[in-house]
Amino acid sequence: MPLLRLLPWKQKLAIDVGTATCHISVRDAGLLVREPTVIAYDTARRRPIAFGAEAKQMLDREVSDVRVVRPLEGGVIADFDAAVTLLRHLIHEALGHRPLLAPTVITAESTRATQVEQRALINALRAAGAGEVITVPRALAAAVGAGIPMDQPECRLVVDMGAGSTDIGVISMGMIAAGETLHFGGDDLDEAIRRYVQRRYRIPIGLARAEDIKIMAGALSPDLAGEQMRLSELQGDEANGSGNQRLEGIAELLRASLKPVAAEVLWILDSLPERQLDEIVQVDSVLTGGCAQLRGITELLSEDLQLRVIAAPDPTSCTILGLEAILNDLDALSLDGRRFTR
Ligand SMILES: Nc1ncnc2c1ncn2[C@@H]1O[C@H](COP(=O)(O)OP(=O)(O)OP(=O)(O)O)[C@@H](O)[C@H]1O
Ligand SMILES: [Mg+2]
Repeated sequence: MPLLRLLPWKQKLAIDVGTATCHISVRDAGLLVREPTVIAYDTARRRPIAFGAEAKQMLDREVSDVRVVRPLEGGVIADFDAAVTLLRHLIHEALGHRPLLAPTVITAESTRATQVEQRALINALRAAGAGEVITVPRALAAAVGAGIPMDQPECRLVVDMGAGSTDIGVISMGMIAAGETLHFGGDDLDEAIRRYVQRRYRIPIGLARAEDIKIMAGALSPDLAGEQMRLSELQGDEANGSGNQRLEGIAELLRASLKPVAAEVLWILDSLPERQLDEIVQVDSVLTGGCAQLRGITELLSEDLQLRVIAAPDPTSCTILGLEAILNDLDALSLDGRRFTR
């Protein structure tokens, strides 16, 4: 029996370092941390003063002497030091103490991560206190979390669309048969809405407000729209001429913004051997990640891809659920090198 098995206090963690949200599960204890991937610094003393939800509240607020950082961009680490400080804090929060022995960590990386991106993620986790780090392609982790069986040869399509990235994977026997990562996600939709509202209505809004519009009023066809938004709600000032005018054109804007995602999936499908494509067409393709909740997105993709597309239940949890499941079966992972590889 390997020596490490005899050390009961060496803990095992699953960590999904998302662009918007970090999740940490501890083996045998379950999900213990779900926090926005945000950290705030005191600019004068350059010390971290808030993490997660508390730091997120300071975003867009322009509090003086406070610098708010989102360490990930487009699904990859953009500010290494901020990522390390935040992850160290969240790991301590999950364990309730500073770990005695560096825990083994399983994490999700971009499905087509470059070596530099992969190194940045592994090094950040190690600098934050992790020991051994095992990486799983994000599309695979999301597929496991969405309940796609890993022991069947028939190909399934999974698209994980988070805040910073979209991971596309064709999964067969626990492996990625074909896949891609786009550095495009919900953050880019927010940015598109922010620019559109500025351009068409001359109303300056922040990204947090743009995200509210996407979630509350956004839809990919006008008949699915949630709340109708009025320009006065955006300005917080009814007296400046726009009165009760409605915010319009968001559905068209979102449809146009999502075209590159459908085009990339089609590109991958077109590259598959006919037999694999036939298998995908027979069954539901699954959408995971926060953007799966955008009203009308499954209908849009079904139409553009000519496939049956469904949203996974609890789509924002799929990646961490998948990592948790793999963590609970780490022996299978290490014994069968063919599984959970790219
Ligand atoms: N109801 C909703 N409608 C539309 N978009 C939503 C909804 N809820 C959340 N989102 C969007 O989902 C995105 C967050 O998704 P998720 O939590 O999967 O991202 P992440 O895992 O942190 O990012 P990534 O995997 O890209 O690194 C955000 O852009 C958020 O605005
Ligand atoms: Mg994610």
